[in-house]
Amino acid sequence: MSGDRLTIPSPADFHVHLRQGEMSELVTPHVAKGGIDLAYVMPNLVPPLTSSEQTIAYIEQLQKLAPQTKFLGTLYLHPDLTPEEIKRAAKAGVRGVKSYPRGVTTNSDSGIEDYEVYYPVFQAMEEANMVLNLHGEIPSDADKGICVLNAEPQFLSHLEKIHKQFPRLRIVLEHATTRAAVDCVRRLGDTVACTITPHHLELIVDDWAGRPINFCKPVAKLPDDRAALRDVIREGHPRFFLGSDSAPHPLANKYPSAASRGSTEALVHNCGCAAGIYTSPILLPLCATLLESFGALDQLPKFVSENGRKFYQEPASEGRQVVLRRVRNKVPEVYVHDKHTNRSDADGQKLQVVPFYAGKELAWEIEA
Ligand code: NCD
Ligand code: ZN
Repeated sequence: MSGDRLTIPSPADFHVHLRQGEMSELVTPHVAKGGIDLAYVMPNLVPPLTSSEQTIAYIEQLQKLAPQTKFLGTLYLHPDLTPEEIKRAAKAGVRGVKSYPRGVTTNSDSGIEDYEVYYPVFQAMEEANMVLNLHGEIPSDADKGICVLNAEPQFLSHLEKIHKQFPRLRIVLEHATTRAAVDCVRRLGDTVACTITPHHLELIVDDWAGRPINFCKPVAKLPDDRAALRDVIREGHPRFFLGSDSAPHPLANKYPSAASRGSTEALVHNCGCAAGIYTSPILLPLCATLLESFGALDQLPKFVSENGRKFYQEPASEGRQVVLRRVRNKVPEVYVHDKHTNRSDADGQKLQVVPFYAGKELAWEIEA
């Protein structure tokens, strides 16, 4: 693993958002561009994917946009989801169910408020060998002292409770950002794993405050939290692995300008910046660059392929390997859809997405 070339067997991203329409056309082929062979795709579309038919149809669309990539589909945990639907979904090849607490992130208005009402669904998932993917935050509530900085630690008792009730159910705590989350997953049994994003290995609070490009949910936390994420990868813990949470948003939604928002009132009150960081097109070189920066480059194959594949029971595809070579190169400032958009609200502009690390240098690139 030393020197100027690294060979990684069939890299996998176990948490990615590939959207719909023009955005999906732009970003779905970027999964392979970023060096990833297998993508586990999130269901927070508009409307969310709540039936196996919807998920299967969506995966077929993605497969047409990028035939060389393998896509695995998920369902959105929702009151309409029944144990019968879980059985049907498992038979149809849907691999997991994603739970979004209500209102904490992009397209989570249909998210859940209480986990116990879903126990019959979790039971069916355990029997069908499906994976439960948890967005591990509870909604902010100032009266109860909950805000974006402690929303994840406050969620962990739910994870422990679900695991205790369903010890054979495979659960993934998604995009961990805190030492508390890392410690909790370490403590729990072999059926509980955790994804880590590259951006949370790099960012702390100071990096997203006032900077839309680095804003996502859960927000990046304190230096000590980031150290815990780096340490658990450096030690090669088998239940921690890559889930990029690559979540593209149109430039205009990340940087709402006064001009595009009309009145001052609209600007002042509705000028929220969309949550989500876009890493798909640079993913493997980014992971190599970051892991090397904190002395964990030797763990790259485990982090981006072996650990996640083992947990998801998805062995690496034969002969699919990606070679990285040590060449410094700049990340593009923006990715642009090649056609003028046909969305009525977008004035015939082209769709633009700004990636994480825009204009900065990576230390590795994928060998053609
Ligand atoms: C995600 C998105 O944009 O879909 N945003 C984010 O900040 N991570 C939703 C999510 O996974 O929370
Ligand atoms: Zn996500």
